[in-house]
Amino acid sequence: MTSSDTAPQTVPATTAAIVADAPLVLGIESSCDETGVAIVRGHELIGDVVASSVDEHARFGGVIPEIASRAHLEAMVPTLDAACEQAGIRLTDLDAIAVTSGPGLAGALLVGVAAAKTLAFALDKPLYGINHLVAHVGVDVLDHGTLPTPMVALLVSGGHTNLLLVRDIGSDVVSLGQTIDDAAGEAYDKVARLLDLPYPGGPHIDRLAQQGDPRAIAFPRGLTSGRDMQRHRFDFSFSGLKTAVARWVETRRAAGEPIPVADVAASFQEAVADVLTRKAVLACQEHGATHLLIGGGVAANRRLRELAEERCAAAGITLRVPRPRLCTDNGAMVAALGAQLVMAGAEPSALDLPTDSSMPVERVHV
Ligand code: KG4
Ligand code: ZN
Repeated sequence: MTSSDTAPQTVPATTAAIVADAPLVLGIESSCDETGVAIVRGHELIGDVVASSVDEHARFGGVIPEIASRAHLEAMVPTLDAACEQAGIRLTDLDAIAVTSGPGLAGALLVGVAAAKTLAFALDKPLYGINHLVAHVGVDVLDHGTLPTPMVALLVSGGHTNLLLVRDIGSDVVSLGQTIDDAAGEAYDKVARLLDLPYPGGPHIDRLAQQGDPRAIAFPRGLTSGRDMQRHRFDFSFSGLKTAVARWVETRRAAGEPIPVADVAASFQEAVADVLTRKAVLACQEHGATHLLIGGGVAANRRLRELAEERCAAAGITLRVPRPRLCTDNGAMVAALGAQLVMAGAEPSALDLPTDSSMPVERVHV
């Protein structure tokens, strides 16, 4: 065992109706630094355990792939046991096994996929290699029921920043845009480091920003100028913003002036939330989507949620945000998408299923 947290956590009751002939599906997630194993019965989450190695990466200020792979190896079996115990099932009860086969860290993905193949082979159950990004969208059936389509999804975490158009969660997902440099969460983490805050920095900036003035400093809104809106309509860029914050802070430090940390945090956060929500709402309007879903760790951000609610309400769009535990990486998202594929009659993956660290979002499953 590592210092990882493998203690089973209580699963709050969901409002989703239990599907009549709901398949019992096990989901395994290991694309980054969370080892997640969960079990769903149709749209109902019955077991969900996550072991995170985030504490082991903290002193490096970011995820170290080799450390993540090793932590997955150590956590996989205890996490699987705990999830089955929480769900009150035996492995032989399962109808199918789903696993993240990409995108993600190559070595980390291998651990989950090897575990899933072993289970599928030993239990003689169908195997579904699924797309991590699409699973971030599919997980919301556990909280808010069947997904209305077309729907736009904004995925914002330490590893990804994507705008997706979902016409059918099992077969028709397209990428509208993504970050061309840093992910949104990565920008939070880098700016937090500049301000001498611990990793991961998002929650610290969120908290500090509460006491700051979001209009104190006019930080740039990446890829929103007229020309950029033509070439990069639904793409994002956060590296210019990060550099602008760094310059602002360094100039003041060099002059021996105090840094108004709360104002910097609030102004930086305002720039991120403004661009994310502006482009997400525009994507809904231009693609006839009446619903916007926000997922990923940054979806926990208070200002992002507030601004998204405000702008969606003004545009007549319904906002869906899964509960925070389901926004971050977990096995529930994998099991939920796996169950939706099983219910839609999708073809299972082959037992020699490969991992694909840069799996395109259009490939919902392999
Ligand atoms: O989805 P996640 O748990 O893991 C992956 O990156 O896959 O997302 C982690 C990211 C980190 O960059 C963290 O700083 C950010 O989400 N984050 C936040 C907040 N909580 C977590 N960013 C802004 N505000 C928050 N409240
Ligand atoms: Zn993720």
